[in-house]
Amino acid sequence: MAKKTRVILVGIGGATCSGKTTLAKHLKRILPNSVIIHQDDFTPPQEQVPMHPVHNVQDWDAAPGAIVWPRMISFLREVKATGQIPAGHRSHDHLNEQKDVPIPVEVRDRWVTVFEGLAARRAAEGSEDIVWGLVDGFLMYWSPEVIEQLDVRIYLRVQHDVLRQRRHERHGYHTAVQSDPEGTLWRDPPMYWEQIVYPAFIDAHRDVFENGDVENGAPTGKVAGLVLLESLSMTMGDAVNRSCEVISAFIG
Ligand SMILES: Nc1ncnc2c1ncn2[C@@H]1O[C@H](COP(=O)(O)OP(=O)(O)OP(=O)(O)O)[C@@H](O)[C@H]1O
Ligand SMILES: [Mg+2]
Repeated sequence: MAKKTRVILVGIGGATCSGKTTLAKHLKRILPNSVIIHQDDFTPPQEQVPMHPVHNVQDWDAAPGAIVWPRMISFLREVKATGQIPAGHRSHDHLNEQKDVPIPVEVRDRWVTVFEGLAARRAAEGSEDIVWGLVDGFLMYWSPEVIEQLDVRIYLRVQHDVLRQRRHERHGYHTAVQSDPEGTLWRDPPMYWEQIVYPAFIDAHRDVFENGDVENGAPTGKVAGLVLLESLSMTMGDAVNRSCEVISAFIG
């Protein structure tokens, strides 16, 4: 009989430009059999992105319309059931520019060894193989149906001014159009951060943090076991370390 595969989904949430994709890519290089699932690949096609009722621009950020939720939820269920990214799924993330934020090589090597050891032990015991799905998104903890699919729940907190600065330094986003391998390049119109991006992010996370204080509050119970990383007071190496501790404890 073929050995079963178990998929463990690791959510990596936080605002735009909080470092989610950077962290996910470091973890992918450490975890054997891992794939990254970008929530950005579940946005609607550009022509279906709703208009903001007041500011009269397309709103890529308000949670209800920003993601095609049924598609993302059924995708996560399918990944869990099969242990594979479904055939035909295309990601546009490789088109996005990505500045490297390196981590010490010892950090990477140490965790590679730990996870290789865990995999070898499971193999010796005849336990099922593990596939890691690193799910990276700016609306990771909005939908209860997404949250319940995630086995480990990480959140990167970064203060507003740093986020805004990083976002302004970005040239644009390649948006997901499943039928078009090039996607479309989106550039923020003037005031987009102030009017659309940041208010929508705060709205979508009010109930994740006590007193609705997304910037400073402790986690409420909405997201059980949320691992809050205060990203600006740690290095990327620390963030990788902490994430690996939590992830290895999950199967250890
Ligand atoms: N710890 C860090 N120190 C310095 N720069 C960082 C750090 N983390 C991320 N950055 C930089 O911030 C920018 C955004 O990072 P990244 O693409 O990982 O964010 P993101 O959360 O995936 O954003 P988005 O949701 O918009 O895709 C990049 O230029 C990245 O190099
Ligand atoms: Mg990203």
